[in-house]
Amino acid sequence: MHYPVLGAEVMEYLAVRPDGIYLDATAGLGGHAGAIARRLTTGWVIANDRDAESLEFARANTAELADRIRFHYGKFSELETAVWAQGVAKVNGLIADLGVSRYQLTESHRGFSILTDGPLDMRMDQSQRLTAGELVNSAAEKAIADWIYQLGEERRARKIARAIVRARPIRSTLHLAGVVERAVPRTGRLHPATRTFMALRMVVNEEQAELDRLLDLAPGLVAAGGRVVIISFMSLEDRKVKEKFRSLGREGRAAVLTKHPVTPSEKEIHENPASRSAKLRAVEMK
Ligand SMILES: C[S@@+](CC[C@H](N)C(=O)[O-])C[C@H]1O[C@@H](n2cnc3c(N)ncnc32)[C@H](O)[C@@H]1O
Repeated sequence: MHYPVLGAEVMEYLAVRPDGIYLDATAGLGGHAGAIARRLTTGWVIANDRDAESLEFARANTAELADRIRFHYGKFSELETAVWAQGVAKVNGLIADLGVSRYQLTESHRGFSILTDGPLDMRMDQSQRLTAGELVNSAAEKAIADWIYQLGEERRARKIARAIVRARPIRSTLHLAGVVERAVPRTGRLHPATRTFMALRMVVNEEQAELDRLLDLAPGLVAAGGRVVIISFMSLEDRKVKEKFRSLGREGRAAVLTKHPVTPSEKEIHENPASRSAKLRAVEMK
């Protein structure tokens, strides 16, 4: 059984109408898409993801709701196509649950995990060319340090970048995790390579640019009265969402529904520790 992050809160803020059309921009394993579909009668949900493997899992996990879900393979920058391909101009609500899915994180062959050995891949979309391996083995030390500092929000970025360049060629996820761990000792609860992995993942998948594109496109894709709900896991991303939603509010294009971000309950964090940094924000389009 797969419990999506902030599942009840997503449903509350999306305020699903049984006859509505919804867009789940990040279908993942189908958790949120399935929960939306369960509330629909004549409506349907477009379940989008740029990871073809995840879409197959989402399809299998929501098989009993198949008549209410339409799958679309694409990235945020192609979301207009996801909607228009269904013969509609706008949807009645959009959810995006950013980052990587539990499937992507735990499947060692995808190369996202610090804990199991796998290729340095980290591509959400496996048809893309650039992999994490190319970045760690060919990028300039300064570029690597900047990514780790800015995207990973890791203060010891320079030391880590130097160690990476010295250890080249780096062959696998555990090899990289070990190089980082030897360069910077563990200080807190996090594995010392966590932020480095996160930064590389963000570069490989152009996550900043994709989020910008999502924030540009979403308001135009959701009909008046419909909601845009976004869950982010990093302060960098939450800041972008907060600023975009505020400016939509100031321009009179939307009403901000979450003055402060909505976060998981103690119970949810206990049951699913990966949810602990989740922040949900929502607007209603005018
Ligand atoms: C946290 S998971 C979503 C989990 C999902 N809400 C569920 O309940 O199963 C994020 C998903 O978004 C996808 N994703 C991330 N960035 C994307 C982008 N720019 N375009 C399309 N999909 C993206 C990832 O491939 C991943 O499957």
